Amino acid sequence: MKIIIVKDQQQGGKKALEVFQAALNQGAEVFGLATGSTPETTYTEIVKSDLDFSQKISLNLDEYVGLKADNPQSYRAYMQQHLFNFKQFKRSYLPQGDAADSQAEIQRYNDLLAQYPVDLQLLGIGKNGHIGFNEPGSSFTEQTRKVKLTPSTVAANARFFASKEDVPQYAYSMGIGSIMRAKSILLEAFGVTKADAVAAMVEGPVTPDCPASILQQHPDVTVILDQAAASKLS
Ligand code: F6R
Repeated sequence: MKIIIVKDQQQGGKKALEVFQAALNQGAEVFGLATGSTPETTYTEIVKSDLDFSQKISLNLDEYVGLKADNPQSYRAYMQQHLFNFKQFKRSYLPQGDAADSQAEIQRYNDLLAQYPVDLQLLGIGKNGHIGFNEPGSSFTEQTRKVKLTPSTVAANARFFASKEDVPQYAYSMGIGSIMRAKSILLEAFGVTKADAVAAMVEGPVTPDCPASILQQHPDVTVILDQAAASKLS
């Protein structure tokens, strides 16, 4: 793992932009994208930049089950608001939260991942070490699936919803097996609340107890941290 420590999330976004730029220079065609607060400055920097994604494909990690694409809390809406309204991609895919047939939707997404192997996958990390919605205990080999969110993830996501009861209990998520197939991975983490998860990911044993720890076995991972998120590294 290549670890880059920056002052704050703003600087992290600028560093991440350099990683996207380098991937484009090396001919990357397919970008795996994430939502949440972590990549916000990265998307701001991409939007401000002259990077051209108009012939590129994007595939997001996850989407809440049950939400329509135009629901303001959906990850599709997040991506529109932070990136797609300003930067055109040739095609942008997310799991369809309100798909009538879950199994067919999972198959569709796995087929897309097979058709468009991800060159650069952007990730955040949960306080419990999750990546995508792969919570502790998840298998390291699974592909896209429907996952039940843990109470801690539901609680963490509640800040985006009117009440805790409105937070979806399930999500579609690329599995860890899907994530590990990306040619390169960029994980960002900012703030002291991520420090334990970051230490477990980088220095702990490779174990499903910390799903992100599997990234130790990926050949091309860049980790961008602010000083607070790096504070528990030895
Ligand atoms: C988002 C995702 C999640 C988040 C993680 C951190 O698409 O898959 O794994 O990256 O929950 O969330 P934030 O960035 O809001 O702290």
